[in-house]
Amino acid sequence: MSLGPIDPVENPYDIYKALREDNPVGKFANNYYISTFELVSEALLDDEAFSSKSNSPDYPGIGMVFGQTIVGMNGKEHLKHKNLVTPALRPRALGAGFQQNARNTADRLIDKFAENGSANLVPDFTFLYPLSVFVQILGLPEEDAGDFHRWGIDLTHVATDPERGLRGSACLAEYLEPVVKDKRSNPTGDLICRLIEADVMGEKMTDVEIISFLRLLITGGADTTYHLLGNVLHTLLSDSALLELVTNDRSKLEPLLWESLRWESPVQFTSRQTNREIEIGGVTIPDDSPVFILLGCANRDEKAFAQPEVFDINRDQGKSLAFGYGRHYCAGADFGLIEATIGLNALLDRLQDLRFDPSADEASKIRGVAFRGPSHLKIQFTI
Ligand code: HEM
Repeated sequence: MSLGPIDPVENPYDIYKALREDNPVGKFANNYYISTFELVSEALLDDEAFSSKSNSPDYPGIGMVFGQTIVGMNGKEHLKHKNLVTPALRPRALGAGFQQNARNTADRLIDKFAENGSANLVPDFTFLYPLSVFVQILGLPEEDAGDFHRWGIDLTHVATDPERGLRGSACLAEYLEPVVKDKRSNPTGDLICRLIEADVMGEKMTDVEIISFLRLLITGGADTTYHLLGNVLHTLLSDSALLELVTNDRSKLEPLLWESLRWESPVQFTSRQTNREIEIGGVTIPDDSPVFILLGCANRDEKAFAQPEVFDINRDQGKSLAFGYGRHYCAGADFGLIEATIGLNALLDRLQDLRFDPSADEASKIRGVAFRGPSHLKIQFTI
């Protein structure tokens, strides 16, 4: 099964460094980019000049397959929708059973390969786990998980194969329409029901808005955690002392996750469209220009982080831009961190003596310039 488009770039960091040092704001083809920590933060805070309309259905890109969602909204419309969806995504709102269900999901996936003493954690765990947790918290039948996974993968192809992305988007809408309608009449207490019930001063979400938001969650919520988990596991498998430290002291999982988010940010960039001519970093960007905001590059900025190329779980983590910044800061950050912690705890509890499989055809490499994650995680272990 293909797990999304493969983007072979192994090391964007040398180029990022050159951008930050030589041309912090610049242009390639028709797109501008912003690269340093300071200027990326400035642009993300100035949502009046740097609009998120680039992520709406009116522009080529993710809005084409999500529909109109908060990532493509601005101003009051964004605020209204953020207030509607954020409470529904809070781990506490997901109910006491959320953490146990996530753990059960992780355990069921591990059960499938535990006896073998070997696995490829990318297709066997990191990819399936966040999507399976979503199937559960959306209250969808387990037997629909396969279709749901396939359409989710189709969505991620929007940049490389727009037709496939649109097909996935249409299939998801067709599948979800009757589900949402049914849950309006027969509430079952899951995330879809909480989105139906969400109310800000009498404003509620329509079925179309809920379905678009669910499409956003599949990519923005599951694909991100998938890559985060892969990157963390890759780091642990590459550093046996760190693996031992974290296995024996699970309080280190939180700083480990934050450092991984900074060091190999799963979402390397986001996009904006200028609303007017704007000067930033000494460069004038004309009105209505597409701008790439290079989060992964900003997270390696030596002016913001001492020795940014060193993976150090003891550094002050508060500053990372991996979840964005400003009004579009990730609405599922806590959700993702808790979900990833549960998944990692399950793997560390159940699999001993974890190591890369020495007989794998090629070494595992973290790759990508859009989403970043490992090519494979072929491992051996004992139970
Ligand atoms: C765990 C890894 C994750 C990473 C690295 C990540 C990263 C991001 C980033 C960079 C943004 C800002 C996009 C922008 O400014 O254009 C964002 C927004 C968002 N994320 Fe996440 N995310 C993660 C997990 C999740 C999860 C688990 C959920 C849902 C359960 C989620 C839901 C959202 C939503 C709804 C937004 C839109 C917020 C807005 O536009 O106001 N994310 N995320």
